[in-house]
Amino acid sequence: MTSKEIRSAFLDFFKDKSHHIVPSAPVVIKNDPTLMFTNAGMNQFKDLFLGEATIKYPRVADTQRCLRVSGKHNDLEEVGIDTYHHTLFEMLGNWSFGDYFKKEAIGWAWELLTKVYHLDKDRLYVTIFEGDTSEGLARDAEAFSFWAAHVAEDRILLGNKKDNFWEMGDTGPCGPCSEIHYDMRPDDERQQVKGQDLVNADHPQVIEIWNLVFMQFNRLKSGVLEPLPAKHVDTGMGFERLVRAIQGKTSNYDTDVFQPLISFIAEKAGIKYGENEKTDIAMRVLSDHIRAVSFAIADGQLPSNNKAGYVIRRILRRAVRYAYTFLNFKNPFFHELVPLLAEQFKDVFDELYQQQDFVEKVILEEEVSFLRTLTTGIQRFENYAAQQSVIAGDFAFELFDTYGFPIDLTELLAREKGLVVDMDGFQKALNVQKERSRAATSIDTSDWVLVGEDEEVEFVGYDTLSAKTQVIKYRKVSTKGKEQYQLVLSVTPFYAEGGGQVGDTGVLVSETGEKIAVTDTKKENGLIVHFVDRLPTQVDVVFDAQVDAQKRLDTESNHSATHLLHAALKQVLGDHVHQKGSLVSADVLRFDISHFSKMTQDEIKAVEDIVNEKIRENIALKEERNVPFQQAIDMGVTALFGEKYGDYVRMITFDDTFSKELCGGTHVRATGQIGFFKIISESAVAAGVRRIEAITGSKAAAVIREYFELFQNVKELLNNPKDFVSAVGKLVEENSSLKKEIENQIKERSLAMKKELEEKFEVVNGVNFLAAVVDLPNADAVKTLAYALKGMMNNLFLVLGADIEGKPSLTVVVSEDLVKEKGLNAGTIVRDLAKDIQGGGGGQPFFATAGGKDVSGLQKAIARAKSFVY
Ligand code: SER
Repeated sequence: MTSKEIRSAFLDFFKDKSHHIVPSAPVVIKNDPTLMFTNAGMNQFKDLFLGEATIKYPRVADTQRCLRVSGKHNDLEEVGIDTYHHTLFEMLGNWSFGDYFKKEAIGWAWELLTKVYHLDKDRLYVTIFEGDTSEGLARDAEAFSFWAAHVAEDRILLGNKKDNFWEMGDTGPCGPCSEIHYDMRPDDERQQVKGQDLVNADHPQVIEIWNLVFMQFNRLKSGVLEPLPAKHVDTGMGFERLVRAIQGKTSNYDTDVFQPLISFIAEKAGIKYGENEKTDIAMRVLSDHIRAVSFAIADGQLPSNNKAGYVIRRILRRAVRYAYTFLNFKNPFFHELVPLLAEQFKDVFDELYQQQDFVEKVILEEEVSFLRTLTTGIQRFENYAAQQSVIAGDFAFELFDTYGFPIDLTELLAREKGLVVDMDGFQKALNVQKERSRAATSIDTSDWVLVGEDEEVEFVGYDTLSAKTQVIKYRKVSTKGKEQYQLVLSVTPFYAEGGGQVGDTGVLVSETGEKIAVTDTKKENGLIVHFVDRLPTQVDVVFDAQVDAQKRLDTESNHSATHLLHAALKQVLGDHVHQKGSLVSADVLRFDISHFSKMTQDEIKAVEDIVNEKIRENIALKEERNVPFQQAIDMGVTALFGEKYGDYVRMITFDDTFSKELCGGTHVRATGQIGFFKIISESAVAAGVRRIEAITGSKAAAVIREYFELFQNVKELLNNPKDFVSAVGKLVEENSSLKKEIENQIKERSLAMKKELEEKFEVVNGVNFLAAVVDLPNADAVKTLAYALKGMMNNLFLVLGADIEGKPSLTVVVSEDLVKEKGLNAGTIVRDLAKDIQGGGGGQPFFATAGGKDVSGLQKAIARAKSFVY
């Protein structure tokens, strides 16, 4: 079976068992403060497990792209070194939400593996949870008995909490699990050592392929396991491992999932795969990492300097570094893998194919800039290594952090020079940084306190800005030390931040008259949480929830304008324009798009004209809720990459032929409400991404008025010329010719002064000495004069004083021969003399200056100068 057939067979199998097939969620996670990237197939169903959303389909199956490169599940350092871990992998999963449980999950898994995929029963082992007394959990006897119906009992192994109790993160849904392992060793090895002994022992040929989790609990912050409202099944099968088992390979990289990429890399590098461990690892790293990097970018996460963006940048740099060092790619190469990958995933995860050019471009730019950094880093290493006998941990960390050197490569560079790296020191520095970034982003959340029934929340904010409501539950959160509370309300008109639109603010007025300000509203998974600075004195009463109406209206204007802008940009710039991020607040809208060059003035004007025309047409909003997703797509709606859409979507249309978007945000009733639209800036945010900022409505009016007044004021200053631009041009010209004239005059004056002063030198103790106050208007002129005099003679000691626009200044010059022979030092002298003018200064031994506060002291300083040569 090819990998494509294996994937389809999985989905078909579960479709036959009444499962609803859903698309993969993006790998980049929004709306969940506990996770940056999708790390398991079950992430997109977290709300369903927790009972926070309605179950539409009790049975679901899919293939989900997952990234395990941060947080609780992190495999990055293994990737490429071994043959069965990946940064991005596909997880095939089937789910039951309160429907079937252990018996069916186990039976179907066995049926699929042995009857459809024809895996060898003799090579399969399963594990069950042995129980844990500290958690008060018993052995999973049920799972044991269901397995015993299919498998010999000596193939059912007991596993501890680490291996057989699955948790998504520190908190959240969890439960005992049952894993399926496959032994791929040759027969003779299997006869010598029993497979049973190698399960979960990090043997590269005895590996876990499938995990069946029986979700029964929610792990609370306090550590307590709270039973879930219903029991669920969450299974996850590593697609690349499964393909390897079915195709009978000893490495995931030998399957048809990776071979096309590896062959391409090998060919371009002119090195064969399978001949040398070091170059093999490098090829595996490249063929793996391109998947993580490409899909993260396609799902909207650009490489950057913080958080999720930094994780992606680091993966990209790890790949480039391996390519550079082991495969001798000194020029950008990594991006060339994108078209191959896009083609491979064309019908599976189409978002890469559709954005291929963009993804390639982003990676190329990153490569170019990193290769530059890399050269500097290697230079740094060479210089350092030339002077040290050990590579200090801090230095290795600097290379790692600033120059993207994976630690194994620093070790290798060191070994080549006969040096070692202080690994403990490196680890320490790494931990310090991890701790720092954890502290910077840490959100400490206490468990929910239930007030009323834990029912599903009703959002009424599309239709009204106030509603009678009750608090369902609340909890305390502290973000970077700041304490607040979050409330969940039974009914809420508050829009939670999402789709770029900021969260609503407003007030809760209790029936007792108490007012509590809502400072923000956010979504956490499916839950709408309201941020308040303090809890109401009485929580279990009825509240009137009121949204700040003016702010909401201004925000709506900007949101609808964003849709018009999006459509106009596609018209003016072309269809390659995709939304890459947006921020819609009451004051301004910010819209990022994929586009490769700076927009011209004409393009900006054309876009503004289209948007303003659509505003003047006063097009009524067409809002359609609960449209089946496919139907919306067939109607030509604009869907965004990196967004997770449900089966039913909301469609926002302004003129059927102009703008139709999937959107959860709030909008104006008709476009006329936006008033006026003006772009205020267009700039680059990353390779291939442009950012447009614009304003609308009363904000636009205020800005226009401000600019108009400014212009009026300037015009008046110029006596209201008819042709403003040429009047200003003339002014600038006049100004520069006047400046030139003044400079010439000063030069002439200095020259005349030079002649005059030359004659005033006297010889004191064999030194040509002069101290005088000169009448010159600026420091430059004094300096020119001083240097001119210095050029005239040797053996010179010169002190010039000047009153420059009311401030005293001193300049001391000592010719080089005097510096050498007599040890005179202009710097020391000027500091001493500066006391007379209440000032200070310094410079070099042959030239130094000082400024001060007291002009009347100039004469005294000049008189004192001679004392230095006596
Ligand atoms: N959630 C489990 C895992 O990730 C099974 O899907 O292994």
